[in-house]
Amino acid sequence: MEAEDALNSGIITCWQSPSNIALVKYWGKKGNQIPANASLSITLSVAYTLTRIKASKAPSGKGPAVIFRFEGVLNETFGVRIESFIKSVLPHFTFPKDIIFDIESGNNFPHSAGIASSASAMSALALCLCSLENKLAGIDGISESFLQKASFISRIGSGSACRSVFGGISVWGKHPAIDGSDDEFAVPLPFELHPLFAGIRDTILIVDPGQKRVSSSVGHNLMKGHAYAAARFSQATTNLTAMLLALKQGDWETFSLITENEALSLHAMMMTSRPGYLLMHSNSLKIIDKVAEFRKQTGSAVCYTLDAGPNVHILYPESDSDKIKPLIEELKEYCHQGTAIEDKMGSGPEKLNCR
Ligand code: PMV
Repeated sequence: MEAEDALNSGIITCWQSPSNIALVKYWGKKGNQIPANASLSITLSVAYTLTRIKASKAPSGKGPAVIFRFEGVLNETFGVRIESFIKSVLPHFTFPKDIIFDIESGNNFPHSAGIASSASAMSALALCLCSLENKLAGIDGISESFLQKASFISRIGSGSACRSVFGGISVWGKHPAIDGSDDEFAVPLPFELHPLFAGIRDTILIVDPGQKRVSSSVGHNLMKGHAYAAARFSQATTNLTAMLLALKQGDWETFSLITENEALSLHAMMMTSRPGYLLMHSNSLKIIDKVAEFRKQTGSAVCYTLDAGPNVHILYPESDSDKIKPLIEELKEYCHQGTAIEDKMGSGPEKLNCR
């Protein structure tokens, strides 16, 4: 009864959740968002989504219904997608289905920056839904099981989103080297990260801010029956094992080797799909070349990775920031209007007290 009263006056939940960049990539899935291999990512801090949900009681049989505003503007297309996502995850929640979800969401990075926003958006939304469930049940605080559920729900919205629920480094997918790792949700790194990697920097070079020509879901699907699929999944598993050791031991060389191998393997899978396609641009290739050249000349700890798009992430230890600055300045020449986003490893999502 109390819960119903609360819904009558509207319950507000609000979360800020960051994007993440995978070092060991998830590319290929089975069933309902189950990854073909385990992946590992850095949770970022600067690029995030802020989402606020006001949940109110809907007339019987009229819920769930979604009103969605993106950066203050009503967006019916996203609203329809979010409504179908909420319907699909409803069986995992104890709250009633007759709810109107009045959702406001926005990114703190430019909408057209070409950064994958699905990880931050879906994790922020999932965290709000989990908080709503807790509020209705009179549960306070953020427990381990709360985060696990938020990760599980995020995954259903967008696979990579489930890793954004945890700060630092997280792993999604069953992997023999990590006890408790799971295909249905991500887990935080189960050991202390070597100080070399604490606060690792990620300068995101925006080569093209436009929408990608081939979506990730189409790309994942093309891994079904891909000639190199089995080899790719086993490569990712081996790379993850070596990456874990590098993160523990502060081994930059192995970290860098695997990170770049994963980025190029991801794009190689796209090129060798049927039909094949390219998401890198000529400027992405120029940046990759320049990073390798700079590393050779200066011996600096710097490497790159790419998401499923043309933008290039430049990774380096926080302690080397000053040394890498000239390289970043030089690389801006290859960016759309010289755009680069200075991001770094963050501590994960934050619950906010919105009105
Ligand atoms: O979460 P999705 O379905 O958008 O897939 C993301 C895939 C990559 O970003 C390319 C790799 C990853 O692991 O994040």
